[in-house]
Amino acid sequence: MDSKITEREQWTSRIGFILAAAGSAVGLGNLWGFAYRSSQGGGAAFVLLYVLIVLIVCLPVFVAEMALGRNAMKSALLAPVKLAGTNWYPLGILFFIAPLGIASYYSVIMGWTADTLFHSLFIGLPSNLTEAETFFSSISSGKSVLIGHLLSLLLSALIVSSGIKKGIEKVTKFFMPILFLIIVFLAIWATSLSGAWVGYKTFLFKFDFAELRNPQTIRNAFTQAFFSLSLGIGIMVTYASYLNKKSNLPKLSIGVASLDTLVGLMAGLITFPIILTFGLSDAISESTVGALFISIPTALGSYGVVGRIVAVAFFALAYIAAITSLVSLLEVPVSSIMDKYGFKRQKSVWLITFFLFLAGIPSALNINILGTFDSIFGGVLLIFGGFLVSFFMGWVVPGKFNEELNVSKVGIKTTRYLKFMTRWVAPPIIAFGLVISLFDLLNGWVN
Ligand code: TRP
Repeated sequence: MDSKITEREQWTSRIGFILAAAGSAVGLGNLWGFAYRSSQGGGAAFVLLYVLIVLIVCLPVFVAEMALGRNAMKSALLAPVKLAGTNWYPLGILFFIAPLGIASYYSVIMGWTADTLFHSLFIGLPSNLTEAETFFSSISSGKSVLIGHLLSLLLSALIVSSGIKKGIEKVTKFFMPILFLIIVFLAIWATSLSGAWVGYKTFLFKFDFAELRNPQTIRNAFTQAFFSLSLGIGIMVTYASYLNKKSNLPKLSIGVASLDTLVGLMAGLITFPIILTFGLSDAISESTVGALFISIPTALGSYGVVGRIVAVAFFALAYIAAITSLVSLLEVPVSSIMDKYGFKRQKSVWLITFFLFLAGIPSALNINILGTFDSIFGGVLLIFGGFLVSFFMGWVVPGKFNEELNVSKVGIKTTRYLKFMTRWVAPPIIAFGLVISLFDLLNGWVN
């Protein structure tokens, strides 16, 4: 009976979608990932490669991924099958598993962020590096890390359980403007630091051509581009499945990608001046995943009350940004099992949340496991997914891709450009990035 078929929810407006998708994109990857990847030595070469990859490769893949979701009007798990038959079920499974893999450790890092925020707010900042290290090891172990992990998951689960319009869209509409305000305020404040100029130089102008050929820098740039845009593993498939047919996909993707890249670059304009003003670059060039949680509080600790206010603002910013990202990581598997097994939203949310709590325990208790999860789920798998998405839309179902560009009245030139890019440019470049990244990853494991 018709009444049994529940209508697929839709975003209320174009801006609702843009903010939700930007909310997914802007997250710990911009604030924490960007700083730690660019401080691994790539400098300006890393930043340049990252921006180029976003412009040349990620934008077409972004449109392709959205076209896949909107054409299928299905969850990420089932969308490839709907378009191309059961041979493509593995792609759906990749879309289902990869977000789970990322979410499991993402909420652990969110837990550290919340702990650092509370500590800065109610107790104070560490007065030296040793104190900061002791603090970090206390929040990244034992009960406190598990509580942070659990609370972050629960918070996001509550939002996802309220659905698309009343949950995800409403929350992102509220948080995103606040987030932009905080980040602009912090970037302006950072210009006043004595090390601001050295910070900008290290980050933007220290250009070393040899870095363009360094596998680690190449891998970092590819990873950063895909991770930061939430691309390659079905997030945009899912979010675009709630779009109406009139929305112009290329325009939307440009909106989201610009916001995300802007926030990434601005975050660099905040973290680098702070770190270099306080001479802590050595502490983070080790660039373990936890480094920023040690260096930023230490740096700000020597800056009195202002430092403390900035620390509160910075970690609040990171946490807010992270919530809307974790929400998107939950929505993909949640909508997938709703779709596949006909479960109610509530039931799916709690099942997935419970699973993620368990799956995150190894990362919570062991920072090396977290790092490994990040390099697999948050790294090579995304790049691989991006390759498959462009191959799929460019070669397997190009007609459907066309259809989606046509219905939203995309101009003929843009259409041609996008089709050319998804067929001939994105797949080989991403394949190249993937091979280098795998090589660099395995190389790191061997040594
Ligand atoms: N983009 C988010 C960040 O920068 C994280 C994220 C959310 C993500 N969803 C994703 C990364 C999907 C990769 C794929 O923090």
